[in-house]
Parts: sequence; structure tokens; C-alpha cells
Amino acid sequence: MAELDGVQELEALAAEAARCKACPLWEGRTNVVFADGSPQARVMLVGEAPGKNEDLEGRPFVGAAGKNLDSLLELAGLRREDVYIANVLKCRPPSNRNPQSHEIQACAHFLHDQARLVMPDFIVTMGNFATRHIMKTDVGITRLRGQVHQVGRFRVLPVYHPAAALYDRSKQEVLEGDFRTLGLLLQTP
Ligand code: URA
Repeated sequence: MAELDGVQELEALAAEAARCKACPLWEGRTNVVFADGSPQARVMLVGEAPGKNEDLEGRPFVGAAGKNLDSLLELAGLRREDVYIANVLKCRPPSNRNPQSHEIQACAHFLHDQARLVMPDFIVTMGNFATRHIMKTDVGITRLRGQVHQVGRFRVLPVYHPAAALYDRSKQEVLEGDFRTLGLLLQTP
């Protein structure tokens, strides 16, 4: 068989995720939420896990947090089609509870392969959960956000989660500033 290119590999990975029963979350899902956006993106955004709307639609960040994300992307000069969006977990945890370590262990290989295949210039980790997972740290988002950190071969920009900022004006302002920073980083050669 001829070698698959990156886009085909991502499609094969999405098909594998659609059949995945590696942790019990498959029992409660409507859809596996694999990713949205462009496999050629310079920016990959990583959230925590699908919520109710995402589970129903099969796409990440389509609810209120997703609307906020769309407007934040605009501040960075980006549209949703320009970026690649994924979550640490591909299936919705019941009642949106926190992901558990065995679920992450079962699912993380999808995210790592997604990052390897997209090979973005920047990974933006949104919220504590994605940041701790990608950066392999216990340091909180408040200390890490807004700065680029080299993590292996990736440049990682942690930011607050767009849902956490919805009802917190000061967090929202910080988050908007961090997306403006992302826009500037993308213009820097
Ligand atoms: N929150 C997340 O972390 N991911 C989604 O896809 C939606 C909300």
C-alpha cells in the first residue's frame, strides 16, 4: 500500500477514533468529536473535552465557548477555517465532569498524533487541563498563560479557557490580549 500523506493519516485517525471503545466514555457519546479546521494550520488549539453541543454536532467548540473562541480568533487575524481545533478527550464526560486519568491515558495518543501530523507553528492550550497535559506540568494556567514555552519540538502558548472567561470580564480581557499576542507572533518571521 502506498504511504499515506498527513491529511490521509488524519482521516484514518478520525475513522479509528469514531470506532474507539478504549474507555467507558464511548457508551454515553452521540458523536466522537475529533477535530475541526485545517490540517495545514499554523495554529492548533487544544481544549479539554466536548460538551453537550459538541457531542450532539460532532464538532469542537460549537456552543457558547465556541462563539467566544470565534471572536478571539478574529483578534488574532484568524478564522476558524485557518486553525486546527481539537480536545484532549474526544468523547463527552458525563455532566461535563473533569476528565479522569484513565480516560486521558486511553485517548491522548489521538491528540499526540494530531499534533505530529498537523505540525503547527504554535499550539495554543486553552485552560488548565490542556495546558497541564501538553506541558506535563502542575503549574497553573495563571502563571503560564500569555508566554510561549518550548515543549519538545512545539511552541506552546497557554491561555485561559474561553468558557472560563465568559462570565469573568477581567479574564476575558486577559484572554483577548493573549489572542492579540498570538496574532503578533504569527507575523514575526
Ligand atoms: N470546551 C472544551 O474544552 N472543548 C469543547 O469542544 C467545548 C467546550
